[in-house]
Formats: sequence, structure tokens, C-alpha cells
Amino acid sequence: MKEKIQELRSIVINELKNINDLSSLDKLRVRYLGKKGEFTKILRGMGALSKEERPVIGKLVNEVREELEKRIDVIKVKLENEVKNDKLKKEKIDITLPGDKISFGHRHPLIQVVEELENVFSKMGFQIVEGPEVETVYNNFDALNSPENHPSRDKSDTFYITEDILLRTHTSPVQIRTMKEKKPPFKIVSAGRTFRFDDVDDTHSPMFHQLEGLVVDKNITMANLKHTIDMFIKELFGEEMKTRFRPHYFPFTEPSAEVDVSCLSCKGEGCEECNGTGWSMELLGCGMVHPKVLKNCEIDPDEYSGFAFGLGVDRIAMVKYGINNIRLLFENDMRFLNQF
Ligand code: DAH
Repeated sequence: MKEKIQELRSIVINELKNINDLSSLDKLRVRYLGKKGEFTKILRGMGALSKEERPVIGKLVNEVREELEKRIDVIKVKLENEVKNDKLKKEKIDITLPGDKISFGHRHPLIQVVEELENVFSKMGFQIVEGPEVETVYNNFDALNSPENHPSRDKSDTFYITEDILLRTHTSPVQIRTMKEKKPPFKIVSAGRTFRFDDVDDTHSPMFHQLEGLVVDKNITMANLKHTIDMFIKELFGEEMKTRFRPHYFPFTEPSAEVDVSCLSCKGEGCEECNGTGWSMELLGCGMVHPKVLKNCEIDPDEYSGFAFGLGVDRIAMVKYGINNIRLLFENDMRFLNQF
């Protein structure tokens, strides 16, 4: 039996020499030293031994098992270290490489235009105010002197939320809010989203942007209006730009005008862009605040007068950047937006 044990010991030691991965090592341990392993089998056969032999063999088996377990442990640690080192080598990182560039993004071209407009008006002494996109029908239409039967009030033109609440169709209701809140004199501009029941095409979108301006004080005249608009256009697009006032109708101003600006492409020479006219059409509407509108806001039209204007921000952005399709402003295609 002793020889058998010694032989088994040599076999294990020999096999251990060829082991070079952890799973084979574990299999070997189970095969010889496990519960059903070779050494356990020998211990089971001890019943057949004499009383004197039993403790001697038992001791020998235990010694050999302990020795082999130690040998296995040594190899296990060695193999584990190899695996670890391998992994370290493979996963080595070069900390001197430049890092991934973080993209911070930038403002949407429309917002850039709004900020630019607000900057110009700030410099001219205007205060920037905000108004809600969800408005009362009264502020959006009635207070602005839009008669009950005006086509813009129609269900097919305007997004109503209830009978009395709607998505504002223009930024003009901010005029009403301002006049009700503030005592004149004041000069304000307010930019934001506006909504109309329009089908989408190259120049129309059911959601678009306007910037509204309002000045109320004593002795405000059409001359102040013309000068302000003229100065603003020159500040925004350049000294050589001209403005042209055409008579128009808005319910909330009297008299009212639409303003054309020199074509941005040719600066007034006449080109394909402006059909040879030299003018970019209809950038803004304006006029002297209607006395009824002042009265609706409890401002005495005999004491105060004012002018107002509203301009299409999307149109200005399109003219400024040479964009010929309004959809591009709202699709949020990064290939487009990254150009600004
Ligand atoms: N609210 C008008 C529109 O959406 C634009 C406008 C015209 C605003 C004349 C004004 C104004 O303040 O005086 O078409």
C-alpha cells in the first residue's frame, strides 16, 4: 500500500509539471484529492489493513495529501499571477494620449438671431420682457382691437385650447400685458414662439418666431418709429441698408406700415434673390398704437402715444444666413445646425 501511495504521489507530481492553466489544475485536484478522488479511495480500503498498519498508512496518506495540496496551491498562485499580468499587459492604457474631444454644442441659429436682435435693442434702451405662449383670446385679439369677425380669429387659422384660451398667433399680446403692468414711459421688446394653423412649406411653419417692440411716452410720433426701425436695420445688417415704409393695415395700429429692407444679397442693386427689385420684402409690420388699444389698457390717448412693431425672426434668420427652407430651422439635423 505504501508503494501505491508513493506511486500515486509521483504521478501527481509528474502531471503537475504539465499543467499550465487554472481549470486543468482544478480538475487534477478533484481527480486525486477530491471527495471521490484517488486518495479517498485508498483511505476507504484501509479497513482491510491490520491494526498496526492502519495509523501508519493513515498518517502517510495525510502527509502526502498535504504535500500535494501545498504544491497545487503554489502552482495555483503562480498561474493566477500569470493571468493577472496578462490582463494588465493587454489592458495597458497610454495616459499620455490626448483625450476624446468633448463637444459643447452651441446656440441654435434662431436663438443666435434673437440674442443679436435683443442686443441691438438693449443698446437702444429697450427693456427685454417675456410673455406666455398660451394666451387669452382677449389679449391676443380683443384688446388689440381685432374685431370679432376678423379672419385670423377663425378656428381654421388659430389653435384654440378653450373658447377663451389659445396659442398666441403673434407676440403682440405682450403689448397688452406690458401696458397693463407698467406705467408709461416704457420701451420694451419681447421675442418668442407664435403659432398659426398653417401648412408647412418652404416659408411657412405652424410654429414660428416673432419679436415685438413697443414704445409708449408723451409726444411719440411716426418720426420716432421710422428712426428707430431705420437705426435698428442699419445696426443689424450694416450702414448701407435702406428701409422702405409701405402703408398697410393692422387693427392695433393707426396708421400702419409694412417695412421692406434693402436686399441683403445685392444691398439694393437688384439681383435674382430679390427679383431685381433691390428689396427684401415684408421683414416687419409696425405703426402708431391705436388709441383704442391704449384705452383698453387704461392709458389716456390724449396724454400718451406710442409705436409698435413686430418682426419675423425666422425670416430674418433665413435672409441673414441665406436659408431658403424654413423646415431646416426646426428639423434639428446636426449637419445643418453645425454650420452656424
Ligand atoms: N402682429 C403682427 C403680425 O403678426 C405684426 C405686427 C404688425 C406687430 C404691426 C406690431 C405692429 O406690433 O405694430 O402680423
